[in-house]
Amino acid sequence: MGQTITDAMVRVEDVHKSYGGGAAAVHALRGVSFEVPRGELVALKGRSGSGKTTLLNIVGGLDTPDRGRVDVDGRDLAGLDEEGLLALRRDRVGFVFQSFGLIPILSAAENVGVPLRLRGADPREREERVELLLSLVGLADHAAQRPGELSGGQQQRVAVARALANNPSLLIADEPTGQLDAETGHAVMELLRAVVRSENVTALVATHDTTLLDLADRVLELSDGQIVGH
Ligand SMILES: Nc1ncnc2c1ncn2[C@@H]1O[C@H](COP(=O)(O)OP(=O)(O)OP(=O)(O)O)[C@@H](O)[C@H]1O
Ligand SMILES: [Mg+2]
Repeated sequence: MGQTITDAMVRVEDVHKSYGGGAAAVHALRGVSFEVPRGELVALKGRSGSGKTTLLNIVGGLDTPDRGRVDVDGRDLAGLDEEGLLALRRDRVGFVFQSFGLIPILSAAENVGVPLRLRGADPREREERVELLLSLVGLADHAAQRPGELSGGQQQRVAVARALANNPSLLIADEPTGQLDAETGHAVMELLRAVVRSENVTALVATHDTTLLDLADRVLELSDGQIVGH
């Protein structure tokens, strides 16, 4: 286990990541450093291919950097083995993806309950938590509906509720509004803004959408694998 060296929720220091080798290598991240302070909503912007998804995957323990250091919630990720990374993703990080990633045959409530089942939570506790989370995202009346019976915005709200199920310290969202129209997208961003305030969570959100950046506490910009202008 690494030691806490700052109180930031996320601390990224000189992270590099390349895909492939030799002349064909793609340098997706080229010395990225930044911090996400606890309790803040930080937006990550940048053109397609600038490295946003690569960076989010590394911060969330889904991928590993070639070089550099990443601390999440006071833990140096390099000090975690596969099992440790799995536990990090299960217990401390909530993910929201552009494509929602809900399980089609499960109801909204069952989808939200999946992370609690994986953790082996008591069924009674699970039911209560699911109910609370669905209310939080404004879907208390839609608990029994399957994803195919919900609008895109509602599906993403279910995904946000699911991401919060295990009380994560960090919410990572990769273009959560990418498949939504502007108005619905803005509502989902406002939901993220609200849960960062109410659920004591920190969020790192990649988005192309410049109109959504106003809601963030700070905006980081990636350009060609490097942080610029902040
Ligand atoms: N698995 C991979 N294998 C090879 N190259 C990859 C892989 N994943 C990403 N890349 C490359 O790394 C660079 C950064 O990709 P990344 O997906 O992080 O960008 P992004 O900012 O998320 O883009 P977008 O806004 O389109 O989602 C791109 O040049 C991409 O082609
Ligand atoms: Mg991406």
